This record gives sequence, C-alpha cells and structure tokens, in this order.
Amino acid sequence: MTATPVLKPLLETVLGRRQQRLPIWIMRQAGRYLPEYRELRAKAGSFLDLCYNPELAAEVTLQPLRRFDLDAAILFSDILVIPDALGQYVRFEAGEGPLLEPVTTETIPRLNPKGALEKLSPIIETVRRVRAGLGPEKTLIGFCGSPWTVATYMIGGRGSSDQAAARVFALTQPEAFARLIDILIEASIDYLAAQLRAGADVVQLFESWALNLDEVAFRNWVIEPNRRIVEGLRTLIPGAPVIGFPRGAAGNLPAYARATGVNVLGLDYAMPLGFAAELPAGLGVQGNLDPLRLLAGGEQMDDRVRQIVAAFRDRPHIFNLGHGIVPETPIGHVERLIAVARGA
Ligand code: CP3
Repeated sequence: MTATPVLKPLLETVLGRRQQRLPIWIMRQAGRYLPEYRELRAKAGSFLDLCYNPELAAEVTLQPLRRFDLDAAILFSDILVIPDALGQYVRFEAGEGPLLEPVTTETIPRLNPKGALEKLSPIIETVRRVRAGLGPEKTLIGFCGSPWTVATYMIGGRGSSDQAAARVFALTQPEAFARLIDILIEASIDYLAAQLRAGADVVQLFESWALNLDEVAFRNWVIEPNRRIVEGLRTLIPGAPVIGFPRGAAGNLPAYARATGVNVLGLDYAMPLGFAAELPAGLGVQGNLDPLRLLAGGEQMDDRVRQIVAAFRDRPHIFNLGHGIVPETPIGHVERLIAVARGA
C-alpha cells in the first residue's frame, strides 16, 4: 500500500494549482520583531556567523513556524552571502546595515565564482536541517539576491536609496559591469540548485532594487539576468519552481513576468490590485500588504487584507507582505493578519 503524499499548499500554488487553503508566509518572517530571535542573535556572534552556523540558522528559520500558522519557512541567510563567498569583504554593522569593500574594475576579475559554493556549504547544510525539522505539509523557500540588487551593494559598498554608484558604474564601465553580472548569475545558479537539491521546494529571487531603472536598464540588468538564472536553474533541475520579486518594477512588471519565466510574481505594496488584470492569465502572484499597515494594525489592516484576498481570488495567490516586516511590529498583529487572511 502506498501512502498518499502530503501536499504542500504553498508549493502547489506556485505550480499553478490554486488551493482551498490560502498559503501565507511573511517576508523577513525570521528576525528582530521576534523576542526568541533577538535572544538567539545576542548569543550568536556576528550576523554572518549566524548565517554560516547550520544549527542556529536552522533554529531561527523554524522559529516563526512554531509561533504562527504559516505555510512556509524561508531559509535564514542573507542576499549578501554571495559577495562574501566570492571573496569580497562584507560585514553587518548594528544600526548601519551591510558594509562592503566596494568592488572596482580591477577587483571584479578576482572574484571567484568557482569557489563560492564551497564557502556557502554551511548554508546548504542549514537547508537540510530545516527540511528535516519541518512538517511535510510545509514548503521550504530558498533564495538569493538577484544580480542587479546584489551588484548595487557590491559597487556602492552599502545600501542607498537611488543606487547611483551602481547605475553610474554600469553606464561608464559596461564591460566590467557585465562581467560582474555574469559572475553573479553563475554563482546564483549553482547556489540555488544546491538549495533545491538539499530540500528547498521553491526559490525566490529577491530583486529588491528594481526601482530607479529606465526600461532599457531594466531589460538589461533586471529582466535578462533573472531570465538567465531561471533558464540555467531549469537546465540543472527541470521545472524548478521560482518566485520572482522585482520590488518597485511598476510598469516594467508585465515584461518581467513574460520574459523571465518565473512561476509566481511577488508584488510590492505600491502595486494597485487591479493591475493584476494586465498580467498573463494563470500567473501566480504573491503579496502585497504594506508592512506598515501590519505595524499599525486595527481595522485599516483587516480591511486591506480582505481587499487583497478578494482581488486575487481568481488566480494562484500566496498571501504575503509587499516588503519585509519591520522590527517594531507587535506579534499580536501578525496573529491577527493570518486569521483575517484565512477568513476571520
Ligand atoms: O525570514 C527571513 O526572511 C530571513 C532571511 C533574510 C534576511 N535577509 C535576514 C536578515 C532574507 C530573505 C533577507 C534578504 C535580504 N537581505 C534582502 C532582500 C529582501 C529585502 O528586504 O528587500 C536585502 C536587500 C538584504 C540585505 C540586508 N540584510 C540589509 C539591507 C540588512 C540591514 C537592514 C536590516 O533589516 O537590518 C540586512 C541584515 C539582515 N538580514 C537582518 C536579518 C534578520 C538583520 C540583522 C540582524 O539581525 O542583526
């Protein structure tokens, strides 16, 4: 007798099969708004030490699922482990965010995509441990940063609101920039394939800085690299399920959805809900509550959650925020969010 396999509602939705149960996860669900995260974080050394510690990183990944009725765990790591694994100096400073030694035309050729996967092997071990500790009905989401977004940190050395350093670099040193993007594509494909082989069910491409680009730059630096990652990944793992999240893509979203081949499109909270009508029929969407509505809570949150659920009733939909949860968010608001999204 063969047992009926347990379906994962979130993965099924990514694969285009709408489920009875609305699948939910929360962007940046493991993190500082959780007291148990803050407690463990204080014992773990630096943030990167935590990312490379399979035991602790697996524990942090599972923390939000112990507390909330979520459908997925997302690997606890960061998009900037790839630059670190390529040999760039990366550190995280409390209150400052990430700080990197900026790459230059001279140092880009010294980045080593071949050695990156070895350096990232503790994170692949985290994936194995999380899968082992996760219920069979739960989806495990792996991820990496998309090349443009990661390049903005590698070139600028830190986060910035306009990504001017990377945009000027791409325009004035196109060959070095193209080389950097190629390196990031190669490393990302290997890294995502390793995550899927270790037990991740689906991977998300975080293109957090898809804003501020004209349509030509968007095509060359966002669409094309994301498309090549999806294609390269599916050459290694046929049918690999991918969620793309090009934050701020706005009017460029339909082109991104058509050209990259992602299964599900992550929507940021500025995207009008009616806009989904312009997306290819059947394409899944993920999102898109403003994280500050969750922070503020109350009736305005409940109303907007219901609007979002209603707007995407006719296509595969994964409920989520339209960007990361903020550290000041009350836990009770998260519980309420999940209840309302599920019909309370
Ligand atoms: O539950 C999860 O989503 C945890 C895994 C995760 C982290 N970062 C942990 C983290 C994921 C998926 C990310 C992605 C990430 N990292 C993105 C893309 C998503 C987005 O928000 O747009 C980006 C741009 C980064 C880069 C990054 N990492 C920044 C800008 C910062 C500093 C800002 C901040 O929130 O502190 C980080 C640090 C970081 N990454 C923290 C966590 C939990 C906080 C560091 C700490 O705990 O000390």
